[in-house]
Amino acid sequence: MFKKVLLLLCLLRRDRKEFVNRIVQYFEPKTDHYPDSAAEYKIVHWEKALAGLQDFVRPDIERILQEDALKSIEKEIEYRSTDLLSRDRPFELTMNADILLAKTCYLACRLLKPRTVLETGVAYGCNTSFILQALEKNGIGKLISIDLPPLGNQADKFVGFYVPETLKSRWHLHRGNSRSLLPEILSRSVKPSLFIHDSLHTYRNMKFEFGTVVGKLNLPAMIISDDIERNPAFFEVVGETNPTFHAYVKSEKKPGLFGVCFYAKTD
Ligand SMILES: C[S@@+](CC[C@H](N)C(=O)[O-])C[C@H]1O[C@@H](n2cnc3c(N)ncnc32)[C@H](O)[C@@H]1O
Repeated sequence: MFKKVLLLLCLLRRDRKEFVNRIVQYFEPKTDHYPDSAAEYKIVHWEKALAGLQDFVRPDIERILQEDALKSIEKEIEYRSTDLLSRDRPFELTMNADILLAKTCYLACRLLKPRTVLETGVAYGCNTSFILQALEKNGIGKLISIDLPPLGNQADKFVGFYVPETLKSRWHLHRGNSRSLLPEILSRSVKPSLFIHDSLHTYRNMKFEFGTVVGKLNLPAMIISDDIERNPAFFEVVGETNPTFHAYVKSEKKPGLFGVCFYAKTD
């Protein structure tokens, strides 16, 4: 805690705007209000979600999940996490995405073959690496990531630490708050076929991110979101946008749920 206060004070001298941003961000979860949702939602295991999705997509999901490219990026991240990240890393590994979420990001990229993927929240870059690996396998597409690094010593240098150098040519990382960067990026005629939310999981922020992106999707498209159980934002997106397919999926190695929406191309 003391270290964080010190880092904040340094920030106040260096960058007043970011300082204010971080203070606002600190209080946002404490002042986050959302409607009590009485809606019932069915949680499924990953395999069940994939079986449901398979009805709407042509490529064979099972075959994609057997790809060497997927196995090798999983191994690479395991290696970077256990052998390369030192004990005095600037932020916790608990920030990492669940492996099933990362694999879902890979799968979504292989199914959609998107020209543009947009994600918020990078940290060490677990999802980022799986996405970039899939884009490389596709031979097409770029990933635009937005991340306001966690407060920590040299934290900026560790954002995307897992991402292999060979995959970085398709990666465009924007440093800052999604609240200001998302509209700016989308105003440049960016139309993502895949959007992944994994930044600040408040109702206010999730509503803002989904609301900003939904109308800009290039169909067929998907929205994937981590930690959807924290508030009703993702469930409301499902209710409001009527996706062709959706699932609320149990994470494997950490508590919580992630959500998947698929929107087929309309004629
Ligand atoms: C849960 S971690 C992301 C994990 C990552 N997706 C992965 O695959 O391992 C959340 C990240 O979002 C960043 N973040 C938090 N609030 C943000 C905001 N308002 N805008 C952009 N990034 C934010 C955090 O600093 C952190 O790097």
